[in-house]
Amino acid sequence: MIKEFLMIPGPTPVPDSVLRKMAMPMINHRGKEFAQVLKNVTEKMKKVYLTESDVILLTASGSGGMESAVVNFLSPGDKAIFCVTGAFGDRWAKMGQVYGADVIRIDIPLGEGVTIDVLEDTLKKNPGVKAVYITHNETSTAITNDLSKVGEIAHRYGAIVAVDAVSSLGAIELRMDEWQLDVVVTASQKALMTPPGLAFVAVSERAWELYKSSKMPRFYFDLGEAKRMAVNGETPFTPAVSQVFAIDSALDILLSEGLENSWKRHKLLGKAVREGVKALGLKLLAKEEFASNAVTGVYPPEGILADELRRKVKERGVTLAGGQGALKGKIFRIGHIGYILDTDIIVTLSIIGETLKEMGYNVDPTLGVKRALEVFNEGTNS
Ligand SMILES: Cc1ncc(COP(=O)(O)O)c(C=O)c1O
Repeated sequence: MIKEFLMIPGPTPVPDSVLRKMAMPMINHRGKEFAQVLKNVTEKMKKVYLTESDVILLTASGSGGMESAVVNFLSPGDKAIFCVTGAFGDRWAKMGQVYGADVIRIDIPLGEGVTIDVLEDTLKKNPGVKAVYITHNETSTAITNDLSKVGEIAHRYGAIVAVDAVSSLGAIELRMDEWQLDVVVTASQKALMTPPGLAFVAVSERAWELYKSSKMPRFYFDLGEAKRMAVNGETPFTPAVSQVFAIDSALDILLSEGLENSWKRHKLLGKAVREGVKALGLKLLAKEEFASNAVTGVYPPEGILADELRRKVKERGVTLAGGQGALKGKIFRIGHIGYILDTDIIVTLSIIGETLKEMGYNVDPTLGVKRALEVFNEGTNS
């Protein structure tokens, strides 16, 4: 029997009530019933984005949403800044290259985030930049970039801001309109507690202006076409109808918890994991000021291989994620995003402690759990 205790940063656990929606009978995707579901999902997503802008649904994984944010707003030869804080920023920069943008990379040391000064400096040195691409929560390095000022700075230099919020939207504070973000991409399988298969792209008026002059080749991911079809409650191509049913119900769960409460819950989960792991004597990848509340990257102790530790932790029932890109084999990652509660963290830290001990690491295996419980108690009482 397959039942994973999933502590990876996506796909994340899906509530049973959401899973059951996937079993609903098929309906006509060009009928009025589907149009109503699409409208409901779009309206709920606007509440999660905190935006009045258009939200476009795509049947694609998050990377499809990222690609759409390149091909709909740039023309070949256009200058664009790509902030690279890990594997997903690197992926976006590569997409820019493939489509012929003049890619200006800001490469940040692993475990750190982009500062406003570095971004402004790069904009100053490169007049005429059309767009800034930035990852909100870089899942591979377990850091979060502060986006609150990025929109204002980019607009000052005439550029739009495109954000990869695949592993943050719904879990980590993001205020699309207030922070003047223009294109914000997310996907179904992380904080939105839905199986993989849907991406969303929210598009500001400023970005639609740029769309009009953009000449990159596009067909499946033409957002203008999707916007035109959405007026009548349709998508240009057959959508993943079952996933749309599922996310409609998952968004009810998220919105009934309350967006700010979800941010708070993730903040506490993040702190408890970091403190718990440190109490076990382990080192974190992310610098504290950039540490993500959705995922934590951890170095194993000397003499223990990250992937061997993960294999043994999995034997005891908990699935952790490995390192990506340059960090492959060097770290393990604990996902704490979406349908995750205190108890999941306690179980995970307990099993990591026990496994490390079994592998010869000299530690009191209960220290992680004890510290995490303190954090949860403080959080509940504050
Ligand atoms: C920050 C970030 N961006 C993009 C992606 C890519 O999404 P997908 O795997 O759905 O294409 C992921 C997936 O893990 C991610 O974490």
